[in-house]
Amino acid sequence: MLAIIGGTGFGEFAGLQEIETKQVETEYGSVYLEEGKLGASPVLFLPRHGNPPRFPPHKINYRANIDGLLAAGAEKVIAVTAVGTVDESLGVPELVIPDQLIDYTYGRVQTFFDNEIHHIDFTFPYDATLRQQLIEAAKRCKTQNANIVYRSKGVYGCTQGPRLETAAEIRRMRTDGCDIVGMTAMPEGMLARERDLPYAGISVTVNAGAGINDLAVKIDEIQAAMDEGMSWVRDILTSF
Ligand code: HPA
Repeated sequence: MLAIIGGTGFGEFAGLQEIETKQVETEYGSVYLEEGKLGASPVLFLPRHGNPPRFPPHKINYRANIDGLLAAGAEKVIAVTAVGTVDESLGVPELVIPDQLIDYTYGRVQTFFDNEIHHIDFTFPYDATLRQQLIEAAKRCKTQNANIVYRSKGVYGCTQGPRLETAAEIRRMRTDGCDIVGMTAMPEGMLARERDLPYAGISVTVNAGAGINDLAVKIDEIQAAMDEGMSWVRDILTSF
């Protein structure tokens, strides 16, 4: 079954039908999730910040979330994230289906393998097949809605948060090769890989990264971009 992890701006999945809520117990804690139908297909939905939203990015129980999804029957995961731009040529809102990431987080629980030596391959952090299917869904949706803007690759820089970045940090991230900045792709994607669970992401740019416009990030202007971008994501997931 397909599982969708929703983030900021995507804490509820409008369009999901026949929703059954579940509390799944795992070795790492309990997880709230929903099982419903998207068209004819059964889908799991997990709002990573909780329902109601209360877990900041550094306090999300990522291990419980991944194991909870597996216990509920997830076979693949699409992770939705709101992000800032790092590449100044990206617009707001714009969708990015990242193909790479750089992890700037610290102090988060990073692995299921705390007490044994186990190294996973993470050369390509996002699942190639799922990414391709997402790109094709985005292409189909764009034929219906020409406003949709998406990029079929990009480097996601994952910061620790919860504060936004300084202008110098965004400049450094650009030099490192990042295109977008968010706070939740790690360790989420890596834990999915440790469990052999195919994982891909779709990100919505909701603000220009710090300093890009020589201005402070305007938190209150983020909402409109988020609403529009997340409605595109909903269409793409439905098409997927
Ligand atoms: N930085 C980090 N995470 C984010 C941002 C940002 O500018 N916007 C949305 N999530």
